[in-house]
Amino acid sequence: MQRILIDTDPGVDDALAILLAMKSSELLVEAITTVSGNVHVEQATENLLRILELLNLSKYPIIAQGEAQPLVKPLVKAEHVHGEDGLGNISMLRNPDGSSRYPPIYCDLSTISGVDLILEMVNRYPDELVIVALGPLTNISKAIQKDPERMQTLKGIVLMGGVFSEYGNVTTTAEFNVYVDPHAAHDVFNSGVPIHIAPLDVTHQVALTGKRLDSEIEGRSDIISSFLKESTQACMEFYREHVGFYGLHIHDALPIGMLTHPQFFKSVDAYVQVETEGNLTSGMTVADLRRERQDDSPNASVCVEVDADAFLNHFFERVLT
Ligand code: RIB
Ligand code: CA
Repeated sequence: MQRILIDTDPGVDDALAILLAMKSSELLVEAITTVSGNVHVEQATENLLRILELLNLSKYPIIAQGEAQPLVKPLVKAEHVHGEDGLGNISMLRNPDGSSRYPPIYCDLSTISGVDLILEMVNRYPDELVIVALGPLTNISKAIQKDPERMQTLKGIVLMGGVFSEYGNVTTTAEFNVYVDPHAAHDVFNSGVPIHIAPLDVTHQVALTGKRLDSEIEGRSDIISSFLKESTQACMEFYREHVGFYGLHIHDALPIGMLTHPQFFKSVDAYVQVETEGNLTSGMTVADLRRERQDDSPNASVCVEVDADAFLNHFFERVLT
Protein backbone atom coordinates (compact mmCIF):
# COMPACT_ATOMS: atom_id res chain seq x y z
CA MET A 1 0.00 0.00 0.00
CA GLN A 2 1.54 3.33 -1.08
CA ARG A 3 0.73 6.33 1.14
CA ILE A 4 0.16 9.47 -0.95
CA LEU A 5 -0.71 13.14 -0.62
CA ILE A 6 -2.49 14.62 -3.66
CA ASP A 7 -1.89 18.30 -4.46
CA THR A 8 -4.52 19.45 -6.93
CA ASP A 9 -6.37 22.31 -8.70
CA PRO A 10 -9.68 20.59 -9.64
CA GLY A 11 -10.25 20.86 -12.61
CA VAL A 12 -12.12 18.24 -14.59
CA ASP A 13 -9.18 15.90 -15.20
CA ASP A 14 -8.08 16.37 -11.57
CA ALA A 15 -11.53 15.10 -10.58
CA LEU A 16 -11.06 11.96 -12.69
CA ALA A 17 -7.64 11.42 -11.11
CA ILE A 18 -9.00 11.84 -7.57
CA LEU A 19 -11.83 9.36 -8.25
CA LEU A 20 -9.29 6.87 -9.65
CA ALA A 21 -6.95 7.33 -6.68
CA MET A 22 -9.71 6.94 -4.09
CA LYS A 23 -10.82 3.71 -5.83
CA SER A 24 -7.29 2.29 -6.07
CA SER A 25 -6.71 -0.24 -3.30
CA GLU A 26 -2.96 0.04 -3.92
CA LEU A 27 -3.04 3.63 -2.61
CA LEU A 28 -3.72 5.18 0.78
CA VAL A 29 -4.75 8.81 0.15
CA GLU A 30 -3.68 10.27 3.48
CA ALA A 31 -4.24 13.93 2.55
CA ILE A 32 -5.29 16.26 -0.24
CA THR A 33 -4.11 19.87 -0.61
CA THR A 34 -5.52 22.39 -3.06
CA VAL A 35 -3.77 25.10 -5.08
CA SER A 36 -4.78 27.85 -7.51
CA GLY A 37 -4.49 26.78 -11.12
CA ASN A 38 -7.45 25.80 -13.26
CA VAL A 39 -9.54 27.87 -10.83
CA HIS A 40 -8.79 29.97 -7.73
CA VAL A 41 -7.86 27.81 -4.73
CA GLU A 42 -11.12 28.58 -2.88
CA GLN A 43 -13.12 27.22 -5.82
CA ALA A 44 -10.68 24.32 -6.12
CA THR A 45 -11.32 23.41 -2.48
CA GLU A 46 -15.11 23.55 -2.92
CA ASN A 47 -14.71 21.36 -6.01
CA LEU A 48 -12.65 18.83 -4.08
CA LEU A 49 -15.45 18.57 -1.49
CA ARG A 50 -17.99 17.98 -4.29
CA ILE A 51 -15.82 15.23 -5.78
CA LEU A 52 -15.34 13.47 -2.43
CA GLU A 53 -19.09 13.66 -1.76
CA LEU A 54 -19.65 11.31 -4.72
CA LEU A 55 -17.78 8.52 -2.96
CA ASN A 56 -19.79 8.00 0.25
CA LEU A 57 -16.56 7.67 2.20
CA SER A 58 -16.63 6.50 5.81
CA LYS A 59 -13.32 8.29 6.40
CA TYR A 60 -11.99 11.31 4.53
CA PRO A 61 -8.40 12.23 3.72
CA ILE A 62 -7.14 15.25 5.66
CA ILE A 63 -7.89 18.30 3.49
CA ALA A 64 -6.10 21.66 3.58
CA GLN A 65 -6.35 24.68 1.32
CA GLY A 66 -3.09 25.79 -0.24
CA GLU A 67 -1.65 28.81 -2.01
CA ALA A 68 -3.79 31.29 -3.93
CA GLN A 69 -1.00 32.92 -5.95
CA PRO A 70 2.05 31.58 -7.83
CA LEU A 71 5.48 32.44 -6.38
CA VAL A 72 6.21 35.28 -8.81
CA LYS A 73 3.92 35.28 -11.88
CA PRO A 74 0.34 36.62 -11.76
CA LEU A 75 -2.21 33.78 -11.60
CA VAL A 76 -3.41 32.46 -14.97
CA LYS A 77 -6.48 30.19 -14.74
CA ALA A 78 -8.28 27.86 -17.19
CA GLU A 79 -12.02 28.36 -16.68
CA HIS A 80 -12.37 28.54 -20.47
CA VAL A 81 -11.42 24.85 -20.54
CA HIS A 82 -12.92 23.52 -17.30
CA GLY A 83 -16.02 25.75 -17.00
CA GLU A 84 -16.60 28.79 -14.75
CA ASP A 85 -16.71 26.59 -11.61
CA GLY A 86 -13.85 24.35 -12.79
CA LEU A 87 -16.04 21.22 -12.96
CA GLY A 88 -18.04 21.84 -16.13
CA ASN A 89 -20.48 24.12 -14.21
CA ILE A 90 -22.10 21.17 -12.42
CA SER A 91 -22.38 23.34 -9.31
CA MET A 92 -25.34 25.04 -11.04
CA LEU A 93 -27.22 21.74 -11.57
CA ARG A 94 -30.32 21.20 -9.39
CA ASN A 95 -32.55 18.24 -8.54
CA PRO A 96 -36.32 18.57 -9.15
CA ASP A 97 -36.73 19.64 -5.49
CA GLY A 98 -34.24 22.47 -6.08
CA SER A 99 -31.41 20.87 -4.09
CA SER A 100 -27.90 20.80 -5.54
CA ARG A 101 -27.26 17.77 -7.74
CA TYR A 102 -23.62 17.73 -6.65
CA PRO A 103 -23.38 19.17 -3.12
CA PRO A 104 -19.99 19.51 -1.42
CA ILE A 105 -19.38 17.33 1.65
CA TYR A 106 -19.41 19.26 4.91
CA CYS A 107 -16.18 18.23 6.54
CA ASP A 108 -13.76 20.18 8.67
CA LEU A 109 -10.94 21.52 6.61
CA SER A 110 -7.59 21.30 8.36
CA THR A 111 -6.88 24.47 10.31
CA ILE A 112 -3.33 24.49 8.95
CA SER A 113 -2.30 25.66 5.47
CA GLY A 114 -1.71 23.33 2.55
CA VAL A 115 2.02 23.97 2.80
CA ASP A 116 2.07 23.06 6.50
CA LEU A 117 -0.06 19.95 5.91
CA ILE A 118 2.47 18.79 3.32
CA LEU A 119 5.28 19.24 5.86
CA GLU A 120 3.19 17.55 8.56
CA MET A 121 2.52 14.49 6.38
CA VAL A 122 6.16 14.22 5.26
CA ASN A 123 7.13 14.34 8.93
CA ARG A 124 4.59 11.63 9.81
CA TYR A 125 5.66 9.23 7.05
CA PRO A 126 9.38 9.77 6.35
CA ASP A 127 10.75 7.82 3.34
CA GLU A 128 7.23 6.48 2.76
CA LEU A 129 5.07 9.32 1.47
CA VAL A 130 4.73 10.11 -2.24
CA ILE A 131 3.26 13.45 -3.34
CA VAL A 132 1.08 13.29 -6.48
CA ALA A 133 1.11 16.82 -7.92
CA LEU A 134 -1.70 17.57 -10.38
CA GLY A 135 -1.55 21.37 -10.57
CA PRO A 136 0.98 24.21 -10.40
CA LEU A 137 3.78 23.31 -7.93
CA THR A 138 3.40 26.38 -5.69
CA ASN A 139 2.54 24.49 -2.46
CA ILE A 140 5.37 22.00 -2.90
CA SER A 141 7.93 24.69 -3.69
CA LYS A 142 6.92 26.63 -0.56
CA ALA A 143 7.20 23.48 1.56
CA ILE A 144 10.73 22.93 0.20
CA GLN A 145 11.63 26.56 0.93
CA LYS A 146 10.16 26.33 4.45
CA ASP A 147 11.88 23.09 5.48
CA PRO A 148 14.25 21.74 2.80
CA GLU A 149 15.68 19.09 5.14
CA ARG A 150 12.33 17.61 6.00
CA MET A 151 11.30 17.52 2.32
CA GLN A 152 14.41 15.42 1.58
CA THR A 153 12.68 12.56 3.45
CA LEU A 154 9.93 12.48 0.78
CA LYS A 155 9.98 9.12 -1.02
CA GLY A 156 9.18 10.96 -4.26
CA ILE A 157 7.00 13.32 -6.28
CA VAL A 158 4.93 12.08 -9.24
CA LEU A 159 3.71 15.09 -11.18
CA MET A 160 1.68 15.91 -14.26
CA GLY A 161 3.45 18.75 -16.03
CA GLY A 162 5.79 19.97 -18.72
CA VAL A 163 6.21 19.08 -22.38
CA PHE A 164 9.36 18.12 -24.27
CA SER A 165 8.91 16.89 -27.85
CA GLU A 166 5.52 18.52 -28.65
CA TYR A 167 3.89 21.93 -28.50
CA GLY A 168 2.61 23.28 -25.16
CA ASN A 169 -1.08 23.74 -24.31
CA VAL A 170 -0.84 27.34 -23.06
CA THR A 171 1.89 28.75 -25.31
CA THR A 172 3.67 26.89 -28.08
CA THR A 173 6.42 26.02 -25.60
CA ALA A 174 4.74 25.65 -22.19
CA GLU A 175 2.34 23.23 -20.48
CA PHE A 176 -0.24 24.79 -18.10
CA ASN A 177 0.97 23.58 -14.66
CA VAL A 178 4.56 24.67 -15.29
CA TYR A 179 3.48 27.82 -17.16
CA VAL A 180 1.37 29.05 -14.20
CA ASP A 181 4.28 28.75 -11.76
CA PRO A 182 7.63 28.16 -13.50
CA HIS A 183 9.60 29.33 -10.43
CA ALA A 184 7.92 26.66 -8.31
CA ALA A 185 8.64 24.02 -10.95
CA HIS A 186 12.29 25.13 -11.05
CA ASP A 187 12.53 24.70 -7.25
CA VAL A 188 10.94 21.22 -7.37
CA PHE A 189 13.13 19.94 -10.23
CA ASN A 190 16.26 21.19 -8.39
CA SER A 191 15.22 19.96 -4.93
CA GLY A 192 17.02 16.61 -5.07
CA VAL A 193 13.73 14.79 -4.30
CA PRO A 194 13.10 11.84 -6.72
CA ILE A 195 10.82 13.25 -9.44
CA HIS A 196 8.65 11.31 -11.90
CA ILE A 197 7.05 13.44 -14.64
CA ALA A 198 3.99 12.76 -16.79
CA PRO A 199 4.36 15.46 -19.50
CA LEU A 200 1.97 16.24 -22.35
CA ASP A 201 4.15 13.94 -24.49
CA VAL A 202 2.53 10.97 -22.70
CA THR A 203 -0.80 12.41 -21.55
CA HIS A 204 -1.67 13.30 -25.15
CA GLN A 205 -1.49 9.58 -25.96
CA VAL A 206 -4.68 8.97 -23.90
CA ALA A 207 -7.88 10.42 -25.38
CA LEU A 208 -11.20 9.87 -23.60
CA THR A 209 -13.74 10.47 -26.38
CA GLY A 210 -17.39 11.37 -25.81
CA LYS A 211 -18.32 8.20 -27.71
CA ARG A 212 -16.24 5.96 -25.41
CA LEU A 213 -17.66 7.64 -22.31
CA ASP A 214 -21.23 7.19 -23.54
CA SER A 215 -20.62 3.51 -24.27
CA GLU A 216 -19.08 2.95 -20.82
CA ILE A 217 -21.97 4.56 -18.90
CA GLU A 218 -24.82 3.34 -21.14
CA GLY A 219 -27.72 2.04 -19.05
CA ARG A 220 -26.20 3.28 -15.78
CA SER A 221 -27.88 5.82 -13.53
CA ASP A 222 -25.39 6.02 -10.65
CA ILE A 223 -24.06 9.38 -9.53
CA ILE A 224 -20.49 8.67 -10.67
CA SER A 225 -21.68 7.95 -14.22
CA SER A 226 -23.78 11.15 -14.20
CA PHE A 227 -20.80 13.08 -12.85
CA LEU A 228 -18.47 11.71 -15.54
CA LYS A 229 -21.00 12.75 -18.20
CA GLU A 230 -22.01 16.14 -16.81
CA SER A 231 -18.62 17.37 -15.55
CA THR A 232 -16.76 16.61 -18.79
CA GLN A 233 -19.18 18.12 -21.31
CA ALA A 234 -17.81 21.71 -21.25
CA CYS A 235 -14.28 20.38 -21.58
CA MET A 236 -15.24 18.12 -24.46
CA GLU A 237 -16.86 21.07 -26.25
CA PHE A 238 -13.62 23.05 -25.82
CA TYR A 239 -11.64 20.14 -27.24
CA ARG A 240 -14.01 19.86 -30.21
CA GLU A 241 -13.40 23.54 -31.02
CA HIS A 242 -9.71 23.86 -30.18
CA VAL A 243 -8.08 20.42 -30.12
CA GLY A 244 -9.91 18.64 -32.91
CA PHE A 245 -11.91 15.89 -31.22
CA TYR A 246 -14.95 15.63 -28.93
CA GLY A 247 -13.40 14.32 -25.77
CA LEU A 248 -10.53 15.19 -23.46
CA HIS A 249 -7.04 14.13 -22.45
CA ILE A 250 -7.24 12.78 -18.89
CA HIS A 251 -3.84 14.29 -18.06
CA ASP A 252 -3.98 14.04 -14.27
CA ALA A 253 -5.14 10.41 -14.16
CA LEU A 254 -1.82 9.22 -15.58
CA PRO A 255 0.34 9.88 -12.48
CA ILE A 256 -2.14 7.74 -10.50
CA GLY A 257 -1.71 4.93 -13.02
CA MET A 258 2.07 5.32 -12.96
CA LEU A 259 1.96 4.51 -9.24
CA THR A 260 -0.49 1.57 -9.32
CA HIS A 261 0.23 0.06 -12.77
CA PRO A 262 3.80 0.99 -13.81
CA GLN A 263 3.68 -1.82 -16.36
CA PHE A 264 1.49 0.39 -18.59
CA PHE A 265 4.20 3.06 -18.82
CA LYS A 266 7.75 3.62 -20.11
CA SER A 267 10.09 6.34 -18.79
CA VAL A 268 13.60 7.67 -19.42
CA ASP A 269 15.93 9.45 -16.99
CA ALA A 270 16.85 13.01 -17.94
CA TYR A 271 18.16 16.30 -16.63
CA VAL A 272 15.14 18.62 -16.73
CA GLN A 273 15.37 22.41 -16.53
CA VAL A 274 12.66 25.09 -16.54
CA GLU A 275 12.75 28.47 -18.27
CA THR A 276 11.46 31.03 -15.75
CA GLU A 277 12.16 34.34 -17.49
CA GLY A 278 11.84 33.99 -21.30
CA ASN A 279 9.38 36.35 -22.99
CA LEU A 280 8.33 33.68 -25.49
CA THR A 281 9.43 30.61 -23.55
CA SER A 282 8.48 31.20 -19.90
CA GLY A 283 7.39 27.84 -18.41
CA MET A 284 9.22 25.80 -21.05
CA THR A 285 10.65 22.50 -19.76
CA VAL A 286 13.94 21.56 -21.39
CA ALA A 287 15.56 18.09 -21.46
CA ASP A 288 17.38 15.89 -23.94
CA LEU A 289 15.28 12.69 -24.01
CA ARG A 290 17.33 10.92 -26.70
CA ARG A 291 18.29 7.58 -25.15
CA GLU A 292 21.77 7.76 -26.68
CA ARG A 293 22.22 11.12 -24.93
CA GLN A 294 21.59 9.63 -21.46
CA ASP A 295 22.42 12.40 -19.06
CA ASP A 296 25.10 11.61 -16.48
CA SER A 297 23.27 13.67 -13.88
CA PRO A 298 19.52 13.09 -14.34
CA ASN A 299 17.18 14.86 -11.89
CA ALA A 300 13.95 13.22 -13.08
CA SER A 301 12.36 10.20 -14.69
CA VAL A 302 10.24 11.35 -17.64
CA CYS A 303 7.34 9.17 -18.80
CA VAL A 304 7.35 9.00 -22.60
CA GLU A 305 5.01 6.12 -23.45
CA VAL A 306 1.76 4.54 -22.22
CA ASP A 307 -0.38 1.58 -23.28
CA ALA A 308 -3.36 3.89 -23.78
CA ASP A 309 -5.97 1.14 -24.33
CA ALA A 310 -4.88 -0.77 -21.24
CA PHE A 311 -4.87 2.39 -19.13
CA LEU A 312 -8.29 3.60 -20.32
CA ASN A 313 -9.81 0.14 -19.70
CA HIS A 314 -8.25 0.17 -16.24
CA PHE A 315 -9.57 3.69 -15.57
CA PHE A 316 -13.19 2.75 -16.31
CA GLU A 317 -12.93 -0.59 -14.52
CA ARG A 318 -11.88 1.18 -11.33
CA VAL A 319 -13.93 4.40 -11.47
CA LEU A 320 -17.20 2.65 -12.41
CA THR A 321 -17.08 -0.08 -9.78
O1 RIB B 1 -1.71 20.76 -18.78
C1 RIB B 1 -2.65 19.94 -18.12
C2 RIB B 1 -2.69 20.26 -16.67
O2 RIB B 1 -3.15 21.60 -16.48
C3 RIB B 1 -3.69 19.38 -15.89
O3 RIB B 1 -3.24 19.24 -14.56
C4 RIB B 1 -4.95 20.19 -15.92
O4 RIB B 1 -5.80 19.92 -14.79
C5 RIB B 1 -4.41 21.59 -15.81
O5 RIB B 1 -4.20 21.85 -14.43
CA1 CA C 1 -4.71 19.78 -12.71
